[in-house]
Parts: sequence; structure tokens; C-alpha cells
Amino acid sequence: MSTTHGIRTVGVCGAGTMGAGIAQACAAAGFSVVLYDAFPEVLPKAMARIEQDTERQVRRGRLREEQRAEALKRLQTTSELTSLARCDLVVEAAPEDLALKKDLFGKLSAAAPSAILATNTSSLSVAEIASATPKPALVAGLHFFNPAPVMPLVEVVQAPQTEPEVIGRLVEFTRDLGKTPIVVRDSPGFVVNRVNRPFYSEALRLVGEGQVDYQTVDRAAREAGGFPMGPFQLMDLVGIDVSYAVSLSLYQAFFGEARFRPHPLQRQMVLQGRLGRKTGRGFYDYQQPPPEPEPLPLPRPHPGPYAVAGDTQLARDIFERLWQRGFEVTQLTSPPEGPLPVAAIFEAEAEDRTRKRSFLTALDRWTGEDAVLLAACTNASSAECASWVRRPGRLAGYATLPPLQDRKLLEWTSHELARADPTPYLAALGLPLLRVGDAPGGVFPRLLAAVVNEAALAVDERIASPTDVDLAMRLGVNHPFGPFQWAERVGVQALAGVLDGLRDYYGEERYRAAPGLRRACWLGRWPQR
Ligand code: 3HC
Repeated sequence: MSTTHGIRTVGVCGAGTMGAGIAQACAAAGFSVVLYDAFPEVLPKAMARIEQDTERQVRRGRLREEQRAEALKRLQTTSELTSLARCDLVVEAAPEDLALKKDLFGKLSAAAPSAILATNTSSLSVAEIASATPKPALVAGLHFFNPAPVMPLVEVVQAPQTEPEVIGRLVEFTRDLGKTPIVVRDSPGFVVNRVNRPFYSEALRLVGEGQVDYQTVDRAAREAGGFPMGPFQLMDLVGIDVSYAVSLSLYQAFFGEARFRPHPLQRQMVLQGRLGRKTGRGFYDYQQPPPEPEPLPLPRPHPGPYAVAGDTQLARDIFERLWQRGFEVTQLTSPPEGPLPVAAIFEAEAEDRTRKRSFLTALDRWTGEDAVLLAACTNASSAECASWVRRPGRLAGYATLPPLQDRKLLEWTSHELARADPTPYLAALGLPLLRVGDAPGGVFPRLLAAVVNEAALAVDERIASPTDVDLAMRLGVNHPFGPFQWAERVGVQALAGVLDGLRDYYGEERYRAAPGLRRACWLGRWPQR
């Protein structure tokens, strides 16, 4: 293989899920690969996984049989570090443990003294790992995503001591793997693991508080948000031990910042040995085929008439949808000042909490006893909304974000004093209904707002540009949109509304909106970076 980067033989150090996946990706792209693991018994398992996976690719017509045979021929396994001597590049994919990695890098630099040494660490400092070698200029990060043969992104991590020429060679090498490189700074979690942290941590919090079960969180993430996997499915894929180690490492690196605090549930799962797919059991059981998800209820809708109250994109979307579905519907862009003869009202002031309160108080005053109030619980809990009206029993909530056409389900919620069944009214929107717990933002709006906020904080700190963050999140974790694209689609005010609601509800700084996000709300554009 003729290359400009001069890399022909790649050593992969560590034959776990990631190491095997990286070795497979390199062999498939035409590189000679030496897969090393200190525990020889692991190597046949890794090879079996690679053989199965490439066989599946042949079955699916993605790879020809002869290409598969060639790729497998290029792969050699070893448990002797000295066999890495002829490698031009060694990619380390050992467990996420700083002491272990430092020890290994010391040995690797002796075994392959002129090779580029790259760590696939998810969140540890590349500079610190490099400090264990006599030639730290040759050390960089090469961060792949699970499943490594499939995911298109590689973060090429430039530590302060990394020679720029090494980064250039790694970028070219990554392109030859058929992947998209982004060069990122050596900062905790780089881009993807930092920005995506709240996707897991808010999900764990929701389950830990007993608001919902993990299947509900995953369903809301997939069907309301369009994420390819829910957070619990993703933790099972990545490995709960890995995800826990990343959480711990970010928490330490940010000196105990509450946003990064690991959750006790992660630790419990690790202590039980329920590490995810690799051990056959994590949050889900992989020893048996997963049951088909139950269809969600969509009751017969109440005939109306309806009103939609609020001057927001969400209000406009709901009005449009009810109207298109043939319901009689009135739109109120300011609080009513006279009687409103309707069966139910969708309050949709999902952005500003002060306006929300004045809308709900006026709606309570001007509607009949039996009219059902459906409060947007995107920026408040239904309990808080109920506290603003004289007849709380007729109020329930729903949590969603515009554009409604992107949603395949509607999250709804209720509180201790509720009497009315809101589901026939909510069903007027024609979306299957998923009941969630009663905190601002339900599941999907909360996960998304926290991810976008982390992205805004990372950009505020000059970790990467908004364009690179968007690219990284689309290609590294297959999000349907990057966080900044998503903020544009949903509306930055609506996301700030979720954060403000959560901050008030929990009284916690972890939900403080990023300065950049706040400025985007005021000025209608993100700060230039
Ligand atoms: N290993 C290898 N290949 C796999 C795989 C696995 N575990 N799971 C799926 N694939 C392959 C399939 O063979 C298929 O390949 P093909 O198109 O060549 O036939 C392809 O992926 C698509 O698979 P499916 O059609 O069966 O399934 P989906 O359409 O559901 O896609 C997915 C699977 C690509 C894994 C998708 O669900 C997804 O994108 N999930 C999110 C994954 C993600 O976010 N990964 C990053 C995690 S974070 C990380 O790794 C960083 C670390 O530091 C923590």
C-alpha cells in the first residue's frame, strides 16, 4: 500500500471490543495488523468476533468473500510486545486506567521506538500518558467509536507536546481507513465524550429518581428524539465499566463539577459484573432475543373544540396540527381576557416561565369548570403548573419540542392532585402517548437541552468550533443533527426554557444555561468562534 503518511503496519494493543474493532477496521482498509494482548486467551475470542462480523458483512453484500479472506490474512495476533517492533503506528486500546496505560506506553516505546504511539483513551489526558515515554512528541490520541468498524468518526487528539507532523500523518491515515478525522485538543472527554455526557447522566438521574424506567427513557430518546439508540442501550454497547470510567475521569478532571458526577447506578452495575453486551447482560439481557416493544396507546381523540395558547413555535406547530387533523381550534398568542368555550387547551409557552404563568392563570380564569388544561411541561413540572391555577385537578402536562413533525410519540405527565384523564385530549395530536415522570422537560427535551448546553459550554471554552462539534456528534454518536443544528431546528429559547425549568425545580447549578446559549437567546445567533 503506497501512502503519504508512511504507515503500513499497525499494531493494536488490547484485544477487547474496541481493540478488535480497530484491528478489523485497519485490516479491512488494507493495512497489515498485529493485534496484541497480554492475556493470550483473549486473542482467539477477538479473532472469532472479527471473523463473525466480516462474515455478516459478506452476507449483507458489503464485502466480497475474497476481500474478507485478504483482510483476515493481514491480521496477526500476539501476546509478545516485541512483535510490535515492525509497526509504524501502535494504537493502544487497553482499559481506561491511567497507571496501566502509562506503564504500557513505557513498554511500547521500548518495543517500537520509532513508531507513532496513539492512545484510544476515551477521556484520560494524552499528555499525561505521553509523559511515560522518552519521545512524547510521537504520542497522540486516536479516539474511535464503538462499533469501530462502522462508526465514521475518529478524534485525532493533539496534546501540547505532539509533533504537528504526527497529527498530519494520523489525519491522512484516518482518511485511508475510510473515516472522517477531526483534530481536537487534549481536554477532558475531547469533544464527543464530553458533549454526550449528559445524554447518559440525565438518563441515569431520571431512572435513579424513580421517575421512569430505562426502557421508557430509551424509547423516548429514539422515538421522540430520533437518536439511533437510547442512553441505556448505548451504555450497554460501549460497556458500563467504560462509561463509568469516563464519567469518573471527567468528574475528576473538572475538579468535582456537578454536571459530570457519576451516578451510583453505574457503580452498582459494574460491581454486579453487568457490563453490557460484552458480558451478555447490562441494563438489557442479551442472552435471549429482545422482546418487541409494546405498542404505545393512542386513545380515540376527544372531538374538541380546542385552543392553543402561547406565542412560540411549539404553539404554532400544535395549532397547525390540530387544524390539519380537522379539529375546531382557536389560537391565542396572548393571555385571554374573556370566556373561552373549549373542551381543552394546549398551553404552549415552552420558553419563558413568567409568560407561562400569566397564560395559565388567565386560562384558568376564563375557561369552564370541565375544560382540561394541558400545560407544556417542557419548562415546568405539571405540579408547578398546577400550583398556579385554582382548580389543579383538571391540569395535566405534556413535554415535547418543535418541530412536531420530527416526533413519533408524545411524552405526557401528571401530578398528585390530577383528576381528569388528559389522554383523549392529548390524542388529538395523533401521536402515540408515553407517560413519563413529572419534572421539567420530560425525557427527550431534557436530554437534548443538556447535550446542547454542554456543547455550548465546550465552544465557550474554545474546545472546538460549533461546526466541528456538529460534525463530531453526527459522525461519532450518529445523532440525527449536531447540537447547534439541533438548536436551530428546535429553537434555542425552547432549550433554554428546559434548562431554566430544571434549574428552578432542582435548585442546582448543573442546569445553568451556558453563556453562549443565553447570548444566542438574546441576540438570535451564537457567539462567533
Ligand atoms: N459491532 C460491529 N458492527 C455492528 C455492530 C457491532 N456491535 N452493531 C451493528 N453493526 C453494524 C452492522 O453489521 C451493520 O453493518 P452493515 O451496514 O455493513 O451491514 C451496521 O452496523 C448497521 O447495523 P444494523 O443495520 O444492524 O443496525 P442499526 O441500523 O441499528 O445501526 C448502529 C447500528 C450503527 C450501532 C446504530 O445503532 C448507532 O449508530 N448507534 C449509536 C452508536 C454510538 O453512538 N456509538 C458511539 C458510542 S461512544 C464511544 O464509543 C466512545 C467511547 O469512548 C465511550
